[in-house]
Amino acid sequence: MTATGRPALADVVVRPMRERQIGRIVAIERRVHPRPWSAQLFEDELQRRDTRRYVVALARTRWPWRSVVGYGGVLLQADDAHITTIAVDPAHHRRKVGTYLVLRLLTEARAMGAQQATLEVRAANRGAQRLYSAFGFVPVGVRPRYYAETGEDAVVMTVAELQSDECTRRLAAQTARLADPGGASGAPDEPVPWVRRRSARKGGS
Ligand SMILES: CC(C)(COP(=O)(O)OP(=O)(O)OC[C@H]1O[C@@H](n2cnc3c(N)ncnc32)[C@H](O)[C@@H]1OP(=O)(O)O)[C@@H](O)C(=O)NCCC(=O)NCCS
Repeated sequence: MTATGRPALADVVVRPMRERQIGRIVAIERRVHPRPWSAQLFEDELQRRDTRRYVVALARTRWPWRSVVGYGGVLLQADDAHITTIAVDPAHHRRKVGTYLVLRLLTEARAMGAQQATLEVRAANRGAQRLYSAFGFVPVGVRPRYYAETGEDAVVMTVAELQSDECTRRLAAQTARLADPGGASGAPDEPVPWVRRRSARKGGS
């Protein structure tokens, strides 16, 4: 575990997910999850636009073309916005792509009228939990052996009062952090469960 000072990935934009991007998304998915979602599952989720929002983060990693470097989704159930998935290409971890995605998913959730947001995260995934905490998520419970393929527990995290001024301020603070070129916290890099060959080295490009 080393401290990382990776610069934010430049020129990131977040856009609605398109079917043509699913091949690239599934390639990332296979690198970050022991039981990856299939292309069919992403296609089905994309069809259900009444209750779902799926987005991709795009960056000019191969100038001048933008390619998918991360993605995420949110499902509205009554007044709860459930974050169904979020992942970043391991080559670009700790470069603020995850921050862009959570910011956008919570913004979409607020626009859909959600009052709170929830998610499950592997108990050992402390880096992700740290990311969510910055947006006001707090742990509210544990689902034992939730991840059947590995037997790992899930921590359930929730952020309440999504429509509050406090939440607006928190999202504004994260947006401001993205605009700050030196914005890395310097927190030690935690291993991401199941992901090998991540690039979280100090100052990497
Ligand atoms: C979780 C994940 C999406 C984070 O994406 P990311 O682009 O690396 O995150 P960011 O660079 O935006 O991180 C923002 C902050 O979160 C925290 N953080 C994120 N990953 C971290 C890690 N591995 N170790 C320590 N802190 C971490 C840090 O506070 C970081 O700010 P800093 O770099 O200024 O210290 C990414 O690790 C990933 O794709 N993991 C595999 C899939 C997964 O676990 N998804 C979550 C399922 S619930």
